[in-house]
Amino acid sequence: MVHARISGTGSYLPGEPVSNAALIAAHGIDSSDEWIVERSGIRSRHLAPQGVACSDLAFEASRRALQAAGRQPAEVDLIIVATSTPDFVFPSAAALLQNKLGITNGAPAFDVQAVCSGFVYALTIAEKFIRSGSHKCALVVGAEVFSRILDWKDRGTCVLFGDGAGAVVLEASDQPGLLASAFHADGSHHGILSVPGQVCGGVVTGDPFLRMDGQAVFKFAVKVLADVANEVLAAAAMTASQVDWLIPHQANVRILQATAKKLHIPAEKCIVTLDHHGNTSAASIPLALDESVRAGRIQRGQHLLLEGVGGGFTWGATLLKF
Ligand code: UT7
Repeated sequence: MVHARISGTGSYLPGEPVSNAALIAAHGIDSSDEWIVERSGIRSRHLAPQGVACSDLAFEASRRALQAAGRQPAEVDLIIVATSTPDFVFPSAAALLQNKLGITNGAPAFDVQAVCSGFVYALTIAEKFIRSGSHKCALVVGAEVFSRILDWKDRGTCVLFGDGAGAVVLEASDQPGLLASAFHADGSHHGILSVPGQVCGGVVTGDPFLRMDGQAVFKFAVKVLADVANEVLAAAAMTASQVDWLIPHQANVRILQATAKKLHIPAEKCIVTLDHHGNTSAASIPLALDESVRAGRIQRGQHLLLEGVGGGFTWGATLLKF
């Protein structure tokens, strides 16, 4: 039986960290470091400089993941980038990434748009390609420049997000890797988190900024994150006590804590990195994963539960043996 296993991880954060105080001062936001830390757990984030695009961040994270996996770009035969902030309307960030990596083997490259669940969606899709035997070495990336869609006058959202990228190399293996995955959507909740604008006739129509009903999102997130975690645990015939690390989408430390509590997973087994990169949407899970791998917290052979929830609404989880 062909398994799909993560052979390397990488991540990238642009520029220097921007503290809450510095962000507030730079944009004249009616907020405070105290409020942001208390309500979200976020202390700083990274913001991509002008001219740095999604595919640039994806490139740096991918380079590191390939190096960690001991693979050359030419060996990659599938590229999936999860993003809601691609460089262009088209071509995809994945196609641009392929070109930046110098991959000329014709490997398929496409974006997945599932907002903050995007990485779990992309990983689940890549797993199916690998298990089918059609592809052997996939580059799966989450990369975002959410700073480009923030309204600095909307204090309820602009303090929460950041830019960054994370990547994994997912390979065919005779050893178990991904054990169970589930992904879902319910478009009836599209109104509580969206960027309800578009480019039409050469101008932006509608609202090009991120809009969110924070409390509605909070309640929805805690419910579905617990449900989908239980779904993949049941599919793998495992219990929460066998999970070594819970790696949730990094949106709000209170959501992470509430989800861990619902799952009876001790808080110390829940990876939290949002304090220093904020909510980086599709990039947050692979960023948290890579940081924890490089810090030596996550070890080979451990069981990881990755899960995300985001606009759409979309949500999903992957249980894996690292
Ligand atoms: O990636 C997935 C999507 N995102 C999420 O998962 C986010 C989910 N939601 C949240 O994280 C939280 O709901 C927030 C952090 C967005 C907000 O926290 P909250 O505890 O739900 O605050 P709230 O919206 O109930 O607002 C409480 C107060 C309000 O003032 P009043 O009406 O009580 O006077 C807000 O106007 O806090 C005010 N407020 C702020 N004050 C200072 C809202 N934003 C700010 C701010 N600084 N940045």
